[in-house]
Amino acid sequence: MGQKVRAAVFPVAGRGTRFLPATKASPKEMLPIVDKPLIQYAVEEAIAAGATKLVFVTGSSKRAIEDHFDTDAELEQALSESGKDELLASIRGIVPPGVACIYIRQGAPLGLGHAVLCARPAVGNEPFFVHLADDLIAGSPGCLAQMAAEHERHGGSVIAVEKVPREHTSNYGIVAVDASDQDRVTEIVEKPAPENAPSDSGVVGRYLLAPAVFDKLEKIGEGAGGEIQLTDGIAKLLSEEAVYAFSFDGVRYDCGSKLGYLQATVAYGLQHPDTGAAFKQHLRNLLDA
Ligand code: G1P
Repeated sequence: MGQKVRAAVFPVAGRGTRFLPATKASPKEMLPIVDKPLIQYAVEEAIAAGATKLVFVTGSSKRAIEDHFDTDAELEQALSESGKDELLASIRGIVPPGVACIYIRQGAPLGLGHAVLCARPAVGNEPFFVHLADDLIAGSPGCLAQMAAEHERHGGSVIAVEKVPREHTSNYGIVAVDASDQDRVTEIVEKPAPENAPSDSGVVGRYLLAPAVFDKLEKIGEGAGGEIQLTDGIAKLLSEEAVYAFSFDGVRYDCGSKLGYLQATVAYGLQHPDTGAAFKQHLRNLLDA
């Protein structure tokens, strides 16, 4: 029923102040989990879900992201000459053939909704993914692929949610759903105080949105925190089109926070073929000491 989704939008203009001083001169999206930057996990998840057009909404001090997804002929030659074929493959395959990267600058920090609106000329009139690289989700298939399957099943927009502690509702978009209608969203509010939250279902950084949301984002104006909020654009969409909340299968790490970042590093470090066994032993030793 739903259409194939080809475009993925990555809003990466934010300064990552929660990670200063690490993010003073380098993008927070380039922070590595073991040996890959967060933005590469994001891109891999989108490509696995069928995306062929990757739209990065960037800002100042984010040039490292463009470099990361560009070819580096000098490095490739050096690795090739020294016979480091595995490393060579690891940098060559980052963006497979047939996948295009498009970079759009968000000239002013006007919020997530504004960032998404900046991507409109590149996305066009098609459904699209929005992926927030801070939210790393370990899952197989990946979260966006699960959402694309959900969209193909019943059409409409799909937003990923998970239960959050009541006292944390003010960190998330919070949704209320109609459980008798495939979890169709009936209300969505940006960062409500616990006493005003319509539920404890928090939106995590994965969205599959109908292009009609662009018109809404153009009109909504400033919301919470004086920013143009994606949540408010989706709230306007609800009255005209179906938006479904989707409880994904997987584990989410909030890599925008120090604790979440460390948790992800430990989880991925334990799974990594190069480090897993020795790292596990090291953690055991630490805990026994
Ligand atoms: C953004 C959205 C919020 C959502 C969250 C998920 O907030 O505005 O609705 O729940 O991402 O990570 P931010 O974390 O950028 O403040």
